[in-house]
Amino acid sequence: MKSQYVVELKAGQTVKEVFVLTKKIVKDKKDGGLYAILELSDRTGSIDGISWDGDSLNDISADDFVFVSGNVTEYSGRLQIVVHSMSAANDSDIDAEDFLPRYAGDIGAVMKSIIECAGAVSNVHLRALLDSFFGDSDFVKLFSLAPAARTVHHAYLGGLAVHTLSVLRLLQSIQPVFDFLNQDLLITGGILHDVGKIYEYSYKKNISISHKGRLLGHIVIGSEMVSKRADRIKGFPEDLKSKTIHMILSHHGEIAWGSPKQPLFPEALVLHYADNIDSKMEMIRQVYAKNRGKNKQWSDYHPFLEREIYLGDEG
Ligand SMILES: [Fe+2]
Ligand SMILES: [Fe+2]
Repeated sequence: MKSQYVVELKAGQTVKEVFVLTKKIVKDKKDGGLYAILELSDRTGSIDGISWDGDSLNDISADDFVFVSGNVTEYSGRLQIVVHSMSAANDSDIDAEDFLPRYAGDIGAVMKSIIECAGAVSNVHLRALLDSFFGDSDFVKLFSLAPAARTVHHAYLGGLAVHTLSVLRLLQSIQPVFDFLNQDLLITGGILHDVGKIYEYSYKKNISISHKGRLLGHIVIGSEMVSKRADRIKGFPEDLKSKTIHMILSHHGEIAWGSPKQPLFPEALVLHYADNIDSKMEMIRQVYAKNRGKNKQWSDYHPFLEREIYLGDEG
């Protein structure tokens, strides 16, 4: 077990600890030589780092476990480690549990609730589609393990299932308000909207984006997964297949947010809003958790929420 975790680091502290090097950008110094901008991570989060001796880091690559010796300082309002030395960590110093954040609750119960939602879908084709996913033990294993993001929200093992269940609960509460919504399509879209994330991320040492994720992204990967399974179901109506895939394609809502299509029917629009609510609420929950006990009234600027969050007297 580590003795120093990212979340506990404070300015002025000396660091002698193992991290995963999640980013390494080497640049030229004005007076010759190299310096390196770094990001160091463990299961509690990431911290920036800087090494003024970039030449000494040649043998170290992003994704390596590294032993770091340095000092924590504050730069532009953010903590960073000024690295004095960094070397590849010994395998014996690495405890995988220190590097992969995991859902703290019962992931089995989360999966059971999602499968119950799938079981309530009565349209035979959509039900067969969901059964083809959840009857596949390899898929279930990956779906229950995958994170929902690298850093932004639900960035921990099991995060995809937790996020999916939250979206389903939101959809179930919105659906009775608008009686013209097709419940089966809504729930199917909710369950499948992020399935591509099981291949978008790699999560062995740390949560990072896989090659496939970088090249295709979860929207395209998920659309292909659904398309392939729908094609194996005899008589799956072409229009229903297009609508299910459209819900995946459009769930980010805007082309600028990564969706190739804007939502073009009510179930797709509601799914987008439910997805948006859950991801943003999780970001805000993290902001509160991070600032608890810090006696601050406002959070730092949040790059995804594009604002500072009011913490009030709870900060
Ligand atoms: Fe998504
Ligand atoms: Fe999502």
